[in-house]
Amino acid sequence: RQRLYQNLVNRHRIIKLIRDFLSDNNFIEIETPILTKSTPEGARDYVVPSRLEAGKFYALPQSPQQYKQLLMVSGIERYFQIARCFRDEDTRGDRQPEFTQLDLEMDFPTQNDILQLIENLFKELIIKIYPDKRIKEFPFPRISYQEAMERYNSDRPDLREENDKGEKDPNELAFAFVVDFPLFEWKKEEKRWGAVHHPFTRPKLESGETISQTIERIKKDPGIPLADQYDCVLNGNEVGGGSLRISEPKLLEAIFEILGHQSEEISAKFGHLLKAFSYGVPPHGGIELGLDRIIMILQNEPSIREVIAFPKTGDGRDLMMEAPSTIDSKQLKELHLKTFNS
Ligand code: AMO
Repeated sequence: RQRLYQNLVNRHRIIKLIRDFLSDNNFIEIETPILTKSTPEGARDYVVPSRLEAGKFYALPQSPQQYKQLLMVSGIERYFQIARCFRDEDTRGDRQPEFTQLDLEMDFPTQNDILQLIENLFKELIIKIYPDKRIKEFPFPRISYQEAMERYNSDRPDLREENDKGEKDPNELAFAFVVDFPLFEWKKEEKRWGAVHHPFTRPKLESGETISQTIERIKKDPGIPLADQYDCVLNGNEVGGGSLRISEPKLLEAIFEILGHQSEEISAKFGHLLKAFSYGVPPHGGIELGLDRIIMILQNEPSIREVIAFPKTGDGRDLMMEAPSTIDSKQLKELHLKTFNS
């Protein structure tokens, strides 16, 4: 149908513009693996059994987070990727089990460098592809997490204006950056601290403080420190998130400890990253934009399903392909698997 066809055409035009814009800004696009290892992005992993190593599994990436940080260690200065991400979580209108992010990372950035890059990218995108739409405020307002919660009771406030009839103008785009999130949150059921963004996020340092003093301060009361984290919000939707990263192995290890990881577990799960960091790592930071959500809003659609070719249903099924499906017993055997049905 014409409407869905137009959604796919504009999706293509947006992604092409992003690729050109970032290439002109000296970013290079690098593909990272899909068959990989579990990452701590906060959702459940999709896993793939290994045929060659009985009882072992790959995980599909929830995001290319660790790979892009490793690229920074290896000397890539500006990376981006139109990346497919996989998260096994309950599907909603703005969530799919697999979705597409614009993922990017740069070395020696300030928070402002990253936010300005994103602002300019959106400005060019709206001017060139959506000339009828209007960005409400440019540069985008920056609101602290605390202020957002106090004033709007939400960390993704909808800043659009309502007309006399109480309607929101469909061509108004109210962008904002929410900044200064807390570093940790208390997980009641699990009785432990969790990272608000992810464990690689940099705490805000106090001036003149050494890394050992930072560690001491954070350990003393994990609920207080703020993070160099930022979310990008558009018309009440969270359309992106990122942070400056920790580049000191000692500080990263201390964060893993506060999150409740034992030292053997730290080296099993994150040894590759800590080892790479021990060779020297440039300060770095980045952001990811949820492209499906952005295209949904720009195309005035109620759900990201309308802007994805072959989306999945609310319960994670592809009705046309009939996936997920059973596999035959020969395949199961090769993969060293038994199911309760086989
Ligand atoms: P985060 O987990 O905040 O950050 O994800 C970034 C953005 O991706 C979108 N998003 C989704 N879109 C559709 N379906 C989903 N299930 C889904 N989950 C997330 C959101 C969100 O803002 N690696 C970090 C970023 C970084 O630090 O650079 C990350 O993935 O729009």
